[in-house]
Amino acid sequence: MENKRPEWTSYLSFIFATVGSAVGLGNIWRFPYIMGENGGAVFLIVYLVMISLVCAVPLCMELAMGKIYKSCPISVYEKINPKFKPLGYLCFITPILIQAFYYVVGGWILNYLWIFITNSSVNDFSAYFQTLSANPFLSYLFTLLFLIMAAIFPYFGINKGIEKANNIIMPLFGIMLIALVICALNLSGAKEGLLFMFHPDFTKLTPKMFLAALGQALFTLSIGMGIMITYGSYLKKDVDVKKSAYTLIFFDTLVAVLAGMIIFPIVFSTGIEPTSGAKLVFISLPQIFSMLPFSSFFAVVFFFLLFFAAITSGISLFETSVSCFVDYYKFKRNKASVLTFLIIALLSLPASLSFGLLSDFKIFDKTYFDFLDYITSNMFMPFGTLMVCIIAGYFAKNVADEAFSNSKYGRFLTFLLKYVIPLIFIYVLITGLN
Ligand code: PHE
Repeated sequence: MENKRPEWTSYLSFIFATVGSAVGLGNIWRFPYIMGENGGAVFLIVYLVMISLVCAVPLCMELAMGKIYKSCPISVYEKINPKFKPLGYLCFITPILIQAFYYVVGGWILNYLWIFITNSSVNDFSAYFQTLSANPFLSYLFTLLFLIMAAIFPYFGINKGIEKANNIIMPLFGIMLIALVICALNLSGAKEGLLFMFHPDFTKLTPKMFLAALGQALFTLSIGMGIMITYGSYLKKDVDVKKSAYTLIFFDTLVAVLAGMIIFPIVFSTGIEPTSGAKLVFISLPQIFSMLPFSSFFAVVFFFLLFFAAITSGISLFETSVSCFVDYYKFKRNKASVLTFLIIALLSLPASLSFGLLSDFKIFDKTYFDFLDYITSNMFMPFGTLMVCIIAGYFAKNVADEAFSNSKYGRFLTFLLKYVIPLIFIYVLITGLN
């Protein structure tokens, strides 16, 4: 007899799990620095429009697809129409490719956490980061450690593993986030930081800002790769998809804004520019932490925040792969987890060597790590999101009806789904490829 499909035991568990997936490195380091580059408060306004109108719609569609068809992305697309199965395969492949590089960053976070907890004395974080990322043994060891942590919860299943992890981690995450905001607001640059974030200067509005805001919203919501289909597939029948999507967007945005309220006061207090990418989190910030009051508290809590953010996203990525093996290929959950583990362990090896041994190994002029990041963020995710909109808008009307039935606002969103949003994503794909 087939086992009954698991369901989230409560609405709160589902919200914790989806917020856990959405809240990741994107909220804590990417959002503040993109906001910094794009003029502060005006960007926030553009971002709110993009996330609540443009990205909310495919998010609703993915959750509704999962809720209706109750299966992994491959089977969901197959059930809609066997012709769409390749899109399911795309949702199978994208999370695997993302995990192959995301866990390397997760490994660095674990390593930093270790340094700060053990109070190791590092004076020059630039040199430290260089050595860590170029050291093949250390880099891969910590990648594997992070992978084990992301794998263990899906191994134990939805209720005994994933739900338990998120129900503990997310409240802790919230408390730590608020604690750091309070510390940051006591710094000398707090007022300037807040003004930068919340006092819009409309002369700074540029067309480029819309694309940056959309890219950020897409990345942070984890859409376009079947994660929300998978998490939606464990939903109970009576849950309102549209309300859930907006609840998720609310919390995800709140975390990003609170992260900004930590970073900008630090930046304005110390006069150091937030440099982009890995450097901000692994070089500039640790360097700055040592200059702050309660520096070791700040550093440990900050890296715990990053770790919690990254691990709950990792769990959702891992679960999406496992669910494809379980629902489509009919593996048992424990075997599916081990197989996923082995695949990621293999694919993440070259990514963990991309900053050392394999730094000269290039695919289309990019290291293996950068190549995976590029094809997933610039091609697979926007393409996957575009296809979700086209399928829900034109081929599976029941999906749009499930989420948007009968309300005026729902009809407005259906209009956006069919006529506006696909065009926006086609534009994103074209410009993103340049
Ligand atoms: N949403 C995560 C973040 O904001 C990133 C992520 C993307 C996680 C895709 C899983 C899948 O960092």
